[in-house]
Amino acid sequence: MGYIVTDTKKVTTRRIKQMKADGEKIAMITSYDFTVAGLVDQAGVDMILVGDSASNVMQGNATTLTITLDEMIVYGKTVARAAKRAMVVMDMPFGTYQGDPYEAQANAVRIMRETGADAVKLEGGSEVRQAIEMILRAGIPVVGHLGLTPQSVNKFGGYGVRAKDEAEAARFEADARMLDDIGCCAVVFEKIPAALAARVTPQLSVPTIGIGAGAGCDGQVLVFQDMIGMNMGFKPKFLRTYNNLGEQIIDSVGNYVADVKAGAFPNDSEHY
Ligand code: KIV
Repeated sequence: MGYIVTDTKKVTTRRIKQMKADGEKIAMITSYDFTVAGLVDQAGVDMILVGDSASNVMQGNATTLTITLDEMIVYGKTVARAAKRAMVVMDMPFGTYQGDPYEAQANAVRIMRETGADAVKLEGGSEVRQAIEMILRAGIPVVGHLGLTPQSVNKFGGYGVRAKDEAEAARFEADARMLDDIGCCAVVFEKIPAALAARVTPQLSVPTIGIGAGAGCDGQVLVFQDMIGMNMGFKPKFLRTYNNLGEQIIDSVGNYVADVKAGAFPNDSEHY
């Protein structure tokens, strides 16, 4: 039995802050297209992330670095059109906010104007503070993202757990507080020790959304294709899979192919 959605009011920045205050956990999931976004919205997710993970799961790239702003906007438009209740957050792709803060603001404005999304997300702490402040100044809600920030994979040298040592944990904590202070509406904590996430979460006035960061966060996010079992080779420790859709798709399509080859589809009631 799934979750019963009891209210259909649009989820907003104010609402997710209230959910934190009330101790109500926030469920976020990624989507990149109209059909899936409509389904996850009906299932009751509070937030949909149009993640730059689209670069991996939709385009087959090894990293998130190669996806473009134009491509993200196409995915974002389709998701925003489908999401009636969930708050839609758009990832700003690599290279669209790390330089000139005015350019970052212009890119965020373009995302909001062309997609109809509700907020943008960008990776990093103090190094992107000015960009975040400029985007906030335009009235655009910003979700921060700390810990494992996949756009920096080449700097990190891999996708391992971040902030394991004291110095990096201290920088992480300072960055999280700063993102809250300057006005981010939520912060994603990716792949950090659960104890660190649990210690920092109550210090922030806005929700923390974890992925591989333990149960102490105010909410959780997973990539749709991973949690539904479509990304069959991907089994990190933090991932819970709720279905085996990959196997089911192969099985269903295999049955269709067999029927076509055997002349068993269409039958007499399946034509005009
Ligand atoms: O792009 C993405 O899907 C993300 C989540 C993993 C948080 O940033």
